Amino acid sequence: MQLNQLPRYPLGFFPTPLHPLPNLSRRLGGPTLWVKRDDQTGLATGGNKTRKLEFLLGEALNANADTLITIGAPQSNHARQTAAAAAKAGLKSALVLRGAAPADRTGNILIDDLIGAEMFWAGQRADRDALNDVANELIARGQHPYVIPLGGSNPIGAVGYVTAMIELLEQSKSIGVHFDAIVFATSSGGTQSGLVVGARRASYTSRVLGISVDHHADQLVPLLIDLATATADRIEQSISLTANDFEVNDHHLGGGYAVMGEPEREAIRLCAETEGLLVDPVYTGRAMAGLIDLIHNGEFKRDQQVLFWHTGGTPALFAYAQQLT
Ligand SMILES: Cc1ncc(COP(=O)(O)O)c(C=O)c1O
Repeated sequence: MQLNQLPRYPLGFFPTPLHPLPNLSRRLGGPTLWVKRDDQTGLATGGNKTRKLEFLLGEALNANADTLITIGAPQSNHARQTAAAAAKAGLKSALVLRGAAPADRTGNILIDDLIGAEMFWAGQRADRDALNDVANELIARGQHPYVIPLGGSNPIGAVGYVTAMIELLEQSKSIGVHFDAIVFATSSGGTQSGLVVGARRASYTSRVLGISVDHHADQLVPLLIDLATATADRIEQSISLTANDFEVNDHHLGGGYAVMGEPEREAIRLCAETEGLLVDPVYTGRAMAGLIDLIHNGEFKRDQQVLFWHTGGTPALFAYAQQLT
């Protein structure tokens, strides 16, 4: 189906703002930095999942679902956005969260709870088993669940970042600025796949650079090739993609997924102090730390324009309060 014919349910405020970061640029002494504010999509504190969920919810409603189910880490931004999307469309939500319920229900979990999402703790079960168990339980109750994969990263959701790239390039054209690089956090791959397909569609040939939060590049790139190819197929765009189309920097994995270290802590403080900009401990803080490191290593020239795509995650800050203060 053509892009503009796909089922889509409006959830966010678009286009999201695009603005320069003059104080941060000065402090780092590198290229001119800009930020694309997908942390301001407007859906229960926003984030990159709003764009994916517009298309996923479109499909769910077409399938007459009455409940959205998804899976994630306890502080999953994706789960929180899914719960909010379901609420907005008048559906129920069931969140399958890894591990056991924490004693402290803060950050994203607090918001999940306020929205009225039903939370299921996966314990030791593998993702797929836990999701299946919950889906079966809901079906046995007479509900009609629609299952959304981890991170909303399938060809349906990734289309959200094809449209996001088109949106950015329209904004960039209207202000007369060409971005030499677009830098963002990458994890389950939907954002990067969509951006790369969007870039190809709009003939943007500069860098689209994912800073990996949790996977080594040699694990992630094959997934990105498959997901981006399937995303392009979905919108009837015939393109061939190889590993050369995906730039993944995996030098910032630190202590592992969701383990906040000194680089993330410094990036969070620096963005807050210089720009009043909040990045999060798990995704955008790590990606910003990666960008800062690249700037310190002279990766970009002083006269270049570099865009940081803020993908959200702010509520997780509160879950890390004790490590941040
Ligand atoms: C705040 C934030 N940024 C970035 C990402 C990574 O996006 P993707 O999973 O599409 O690679 C996520 C995914 O959960 C996220 O929550």
